[in-house]
Amino acid sequence: MEIIRTVDELRQRVAKFKEQGKTVGLVPTMGALHAGHISLVDKARHDCQAVVVSVFVNPTQFNNQNDLLTYPRTEEADCALLEKAGVDVAFIPSVSEMYPQPDTRTFDLGPVAEVMEGPMRPGHFNGVAQVVSKLFDMVRPNRAYFGEKDFQQIAVIRRMVEIEGFDLEIVACPIKRHDDGLAMSSRNVRLTPEQRRVAPEIYKALRLGKEFAAAGHSVADTKALVTDTINSVPYMEVEYFEIVNAETMQPVADWADANHAAGCITVYCGDVRLIDNIIFF
Ligand code: PAF
Repeated sequence: MEIIRTVDELRQRVAKFKEQGKTVGLVPTMGALHAGHISLVDKARHDCQAVVVSVFVNPTQFNNQNDLLTYPRTEEADCALLEKAGVDVAFIPSVSEMYPQPDTRTFDLGPVAEVMEGPMRPGHFNGVAQVVSKLFDMVRPNRAYFGEKDFQQIAVIRRMVEIEGFDLEIVACPIKRHDDGLAMSSRNVRLTPEQRRVAPEIYKALRLGKEFAAAGHSVADTKALVTDTINSVPYMEVEYFEIVNAETMQPVADWADANHAAGCITVYCGDVRLIDNIIFF
């Protein structure tokens, strides 16, 4: 595996892959890698002849300075995992390499970015669009891989791709979970042992909500059940739980309002913000 730290070198390396007629897969990450990220890499390796993984904690997508400062950074361990997973290039730029000038672009991300994480984390999705569009421009991959844990992020990135006219396929990959059901996340390492013990209650409540809905209960009652169940667990507080049209991200008031519906949740477990989701149908 090559570790590349500059944009020029990255462009040259990718140009070589393309000269060799190789399809290129890109897996954008912020590092602190776990088995969830490796499942994206495995899928990219299966689909593409060359795989580039970026490891970059993108400051423009953090609306909370403390979250940026405490975001886990584990470069050495990340490189070992990527090497083992058979990655061709790990792109690990500095902030000044990615942003030689401040990025002042504002993306018109539309309704998909105006709900849930949009109002909760002002500027977050614009920052994601900035960094991902830069990476797409540098690598021009055939396919790019994202985890469905960040369900709304995928819809936002699809919208950015449409606006910018990138010619690539966005591949959404299923959430990877620990045996007890907790969605894998780089933030899980910040949970205390007590918080880690109760954190699987999030997915348990989502599954309970899905069964409850399947038994004929309304959207409003399902939302109340999931929210109340989680709020009754020590350390936990639901920030939002929305049931949305899985394509448009718009909240549904009635199950008949969507062909595909997803429940998206954010929960504070102590001061760690965890997100998860479940597909209802
Ligand atoms: O999902 C993430 O880890 C980040 O938002 C991404 C897509 C790597 C952009 O920084």
